[in-house]
Amino acid sequence: MVSRIIPVETFDLVVFGGTGDLAKRKILPALFKRFCFGQVPDGSKVVGAARGELSTLDYRSLVAQALREYGGEMAQDSEKVSAFCEHVDYVAVDARGESGWTELADVLSPDVVRAFYFSVGPGVYSDLAQGLQRHGLVADDTRIVVEKPFGHDLETAQALNRELAQFFNESQIYRIDHYLGKETVQNLMAVRFGNMLFEPLWNAQYIDHIQITVAETVGVAGRGGYYEKSGAMRDMVQNHLMQLLCLIAMEPPAQFEPDAVRDEKLKVIRALDSVQPHHIVRGQYTAADGEMSYREDVDNPRSKTESFVALKCLVNNWRWAGTPFYLRTGKRLSARDSEITVVFKDTPHSIFGPEAGQHRNELSIQLQPNEGITLNVTIKEPGPGGMRLINVPLDMSFAEALGPKLEGTSDAYERLIMDVIRGNQTLFMRDDEVEAAWAWTDPIIQGWEARGDVPKPYDAFGNGPDDADVMMRRDGREWRGLDK
Ligand code: BG6
Repeated sequence: MVSRIIPVETFDLVVFGGTGDLAKRKILPALFKRFCFGQVPDGSKVVGAARGELSTLDYRSLVAQALREYGGEMAQDSEKVSAFCEHVDYVAVDARGESGWTELADVLSPDVVRAFYFSVGPGVYSDLAQGLQRHGLVADDTRIVVEKPFGHDLETAQALNRELAQFFNESQIYRIDHYLGKETVQNLMAVRFGNMLFEPLWNAQYIDHIQITVAETVGVAGRGGYYEKSGAMRDMVQNHLMQLLCLIAMEPPAQFEPDAVRDEKLKVIRALDSVQPHHIVRGQYTAADGEMSYREDVDNPRSKTESFVALKCLVNNWRWAGTPFYLRTGKRLSARDSEITVVFKDTPHSIFGPEAGQHRNELSIQLQPNEGITLNVTIKEPGPGGMRLINVPLDMSFAEALGPKLEGTSDAYERLIMDVIRGNQTLFMRDDEVEAAWAWTDPIIQGWEARGDVPKPYDAFGNGPDDADVMMRRDGREWRGLDK
């Protein structure tokens, strides 16, 4: 049985930066896949907009090429690609000038859902917002989609929010964090709030600590210019890891509804304690296996930018007081492995005596790859010799458990773009959320800058700097292995 496809209204989606990398790799393939599943209704248009003078036919060839490259198996069917391209148009628009706006207005239909995807650098957001207003392209329910990074720090994020607020209501602004669109990330909410089993135990009384890891094997080659100014803290922790932390730590919202969910996430960010310098480790990968070091990748032999961060943070509220959250992310690590592990406390008393051994329950939610959930449960070691305890996994791989039901499910961009068309902001970040996340991140980064902190080198394709393990050992804990 293929998953249920919910119809959407006819729409016009304009992609500013329509010839750029994000459009080619993510946005257009996502739209194509939704088209294949019947979610680009007749009369809908995908309009590429960029500076270059291209005919619509040229742009359609660019789209077809991008789909062949990044669109997966379905995009190898040229009939499907051509049928999708019938929905595609192109207009050359000068974001900072006057040319192209009237032509853009002419292409759009008056009575359909209208969305503008700003797949451009944040420096152009304001010009685009003004251009759209000036040329009468914005109706009350017109939406804009903006990408991360949303600002570089609190000040720039506030400025960006203020600029956009001059032209759009908050209900029209969709700030993407693609982690929120991942199937398994949404599953965090289903697991927590759809089961009676976990929620009563979901607090400091029963949980020893929580680990959130997003490990990647890729380096930063090709994105050095951006990454040098960003580093892992701005690139991953301020947004993706923060969102995961929020979903794990938040109180149950009254409804699965945009502001109810975002209010609860915001409360978590605001309850975060400031991170002590000895509770954070930064790292930078070295060269290995014919791969370049971070410094070579970014062409800066003295770079102090981190490609790895591990930190311990505390959520200062009734639910979590005393239960640390350990966050870790890095590039060029030994495995691509994103997971959240909830480590429960020891039983208060062992009736079997010390020789039987003690094991902790661990609930591990594997986000990618191999999505699934594992619950480690303590049982008796089989065989004679008295009562000895071992931990065994109750293992659920989603691929095995759900099989064909996974067919047709959307990837993050597909789901988020369809949510924009449906007008559902639940999985998008609100202005105050983004600002609160920066307000927590800024002092950490400022501390590094003030101290002239240099990240610790770590072996490429290893587990990050030793100091990250030392930080855990000081607390009598250890990181889950990356190479399970
Ligand atoms: C992006 C970061 O937001 O997320 C990248 O800018 C990172 O540096 C990427 O590689 C990771 O996303 P995913 O979906 O591959 O886990």
